[in-house]
Amino acid sequence: MAYPILIISQKEIISRFSIQESIDMVEQAFANHEKGNDILPRKLIFQVPGGISACMASMLPDLDVLAMKLGQGREENPKRNLPNILSQISLFDPDTGKPLALMDGSWVTGLRTGAAAAVAVKHLARTDVRTLGILGAGFQGRHALRAAVQVRSFEEIRVYDSFPKALESYVAELSKDLGRPVEPVRLPQDLVTKSDVIITCTNTTVPIVQNEWLRPGTHLSCMGADQAWKQELANGIHARCTIFGDHIEQICHLGEVSEPLEKGHIDRDDIRGTLGQVINGSIEGRTSDDEITLFDGTGMAIQDAAVARRIYDLAAQEKFGIWAEL
Ligand SMILES: NC(=O)c1ccc[n+]([C@@H]2O[C@H](COP(=O)([O-])OP(=O)(O)OC[C@H]3O[C@@H](n4cnc5c(N)ncnc54)[C@H](O)[C@@H]3O)[C@@H](O)[C@H]2O)c1
Repeated sequence: MAYPILIISQKEIISRFSIQESIDMVEQAFANHEKGNDILPRKLIFQVPGGISACMASMLPDLDVLAMKLGQGREENPKRNLPNILSQISLFDPDTGKPLALMDGSWVTGLRTGAAAAVAVKHLARTDVRTLGILGAGFQGRHALRAAVQVRSFEEIRVYDSFPKALESYVAELSKDLGRPVEPVRLPQDLVTKSDVIITCTNTTVPIVQNEWLRPGTHLSCMGADQAWKQELANGIHARCTIFGDHIEQICHLGEVSEPLEKGHIDRDDIRGTLGQVINGSIEGRTSDDEITLFDGTGMAIQDAAVARRIYDLAAQEKFGIWAEL
């Protein structure tokens, strides 16, 4: 039996879906997840020649959605004029299992990752923050900045990247998009010592942020380390921070805190809880202006599912996308 599905392109997502909506959906998904009703299997990631293949799936009863994101990472892709991460998301009716939609997943990944960083800023940063620093002028760094300026007003924005060309194109693009200056810095300490909020979005395996640069009262949203071999903050920093995660088990295995935990620099008890618990008020977030708060965001399938569900509803309502029969 043939049935129709809605195919939604990246172009349509970019032109029709707002950053604010992705922030609202991710915030809602994190809070709902704490009720314990979601079905969230572990991410499936396996090595293939030249990169990785991945599947992230979840079912969210509160949002009436079942979604699966299939992704590919290939390090050589930029040389072939392709993004290094490519993905697509399938949405299903949770009740019947009927496929509903197929959409680009790459832009959604950027939106939901930037949104998670921003939701953490909203709930954990001091209320009087003035300065924002973005480490990593790549795809996620772009989304993180666009989302962060939705939740706080920053007077100064700085960005650092070790690859000068990436820095140059980021500054030109984001200054134009935001209609305000984004200042490139030559050294990471020029950014860290001057930022009230820092969002890390690099793929480094060698920590960039050094302990002596970090000021009391800073908030860090750490988004780059999503595998055990990646780490953006030097050992010694984590023990100074009040730590929150998107998913505790996952951050312990894959996140920014995984190596410090393994090496005994911090204990699991040093992780206060999840961002979802902070949002729904079941645990305290920041408790003083001097506290350094760290959000370790490793990426959850519920973020993709929540954002994709909203895009599907909008497409059905505003009549974009192409219906096709399977
Ligand atoms: N947490 C999540 O949910 C999530 C989601 C998607 C991607 N990621 C991760 O985020 C990271 C960035 O992804 P992306 O798609 O933006 O990659 P990207 O290649 O577009 O950007 C990464 C940038 O980091 C810069 N960089 C690398 N090492 C650096 C260093 N030592 N100092 C300064 N800059 C450095 C690179 O020059 C590049 O511009 C990756 O590790 C990726 O796996 C996390």
